[in-house]
Amino acid sequence: MKPDAPAHVPVLAGELTELLLPRPGGRYLDATLGLGGHAALLLQAAGPGAELLGLDRDRRALNLAGINLARFGRALHTAHLPFADFAAALENLGWDKVDGALVDAGVSSLQLDTAERGFSFMRDGPLDMRLDSETGMNAAQLLNSLGEKELESILKKFGEEPMAGRIARAVAQSRAVRPLERTGDLAALVEKAYPPSWRAKARNHPATRTFQALRLAVNDELGQLRLFMERIVPRLNPGARVAIISFHSLEDRLVKHFFRTEAAGCLCPPHVRRCLCGHRPTLRLITKKALTPGEAELAANPRARSAKLRVAERLPEPAPPLAQPT
Ligand SMILES: C[S@@+](CC[C@H](N)C(=O)[O-])C[C@H]1O[C@@H](n2cnc3c(N)ncnc32)[C@H](O)[C@@H]1O
Repeated sequence: MKPDAPAHVPVLAGELTELLLPRPGGRYLDATLGLGGHAALLLQAAGPGAELLGLDRDRRALNLAGINLARFGRALHTAHLPFADFAAALENLGWDKVDGALVDAGVSSLQLDTAERGFSFMRDGPLDMRLDSETGMNAAQLLNSLGEKELESILKKFGEEPMAGRIARAVAQSRAVRPLERTGDLAALVEKAYPPSWRAKARNHPATRTFQALRLAVNDELGQLRLFMERIVPRLNPGARVAIISFHSLEDRLVKHFFRTEAAGCLCPPHVRRCLCGHRPTLRLITKKALTPGEAELAANPRARSAKLRVAERLPEPAPPLAQPT
């Protein structure tokens, strides 16, 4: 038997598989296939005739998932795409709608642990951080080309970094001498930019927020998630569910707000007496509060610690209004 490729421990796997209601013959979209952990569980739980389309921006992940999921044969389809563009892959398969969709946002353990990908401040490597290493600007190009104020604003917006100004200034001073190219150099620079008293108090490495901010900016991760959510709703069959696992508060806030808005009827401000917006609910909330991993999962997989799962279900299209008798 061919040995399996490296794996990624899927987070909140039991909860996600149960809440997506997999069934025989169903069609599923895994927008972040990764190494295929969730996809395998979903296909297995769905049973005969089910099919799954898995997307990833990382070609290496797609190849490894292909090995890990080989036993599912023709039930698995894959495409190398940013997930906001999933419609192109549905069209290729001739699928109009799906019976369930999932996003497990961010990076896999393999990506994080591979120093050459540049995602980790714990491992020295080139400052890359692209999920798709074949296109787009990498983190070094971004860091070395942005104005100091723009960099400060990215660190604030995507990292909620309290020392954004000091870090942006330190980057500007350092790159005036030599461009920043290694994760180790950036991590050391951020650590130095932090006042010693803050450094002593910090729960995480001072570079945590800077690395998060750069990764989100390099891959437009929040923009991708927003577009995915807007575009998936009309492509879900009535009763189909969408599940999103996020790993930091910016993503989770976006998902929470989107699901709540889609689950609401009228969105007019409270002082408007008769609805002017005409908004109708398109989703029903399945998780009123985000689900988080239990103690047993955290003990087995500490990387799951910040995961949050939210699930919503597509409502049937509202019936068109009856014609008024003339
Ligand atoms: C946390 S991992 C998914 C792990 C997977 N659920 C499993 O169980 O093996 C996230 C994956 O999504 C991919 N990814 C992140 N953002 C993406 C996007 N906008 N479009 C496509 N793939 C994306 C990453 O390359 C990574 O492989």
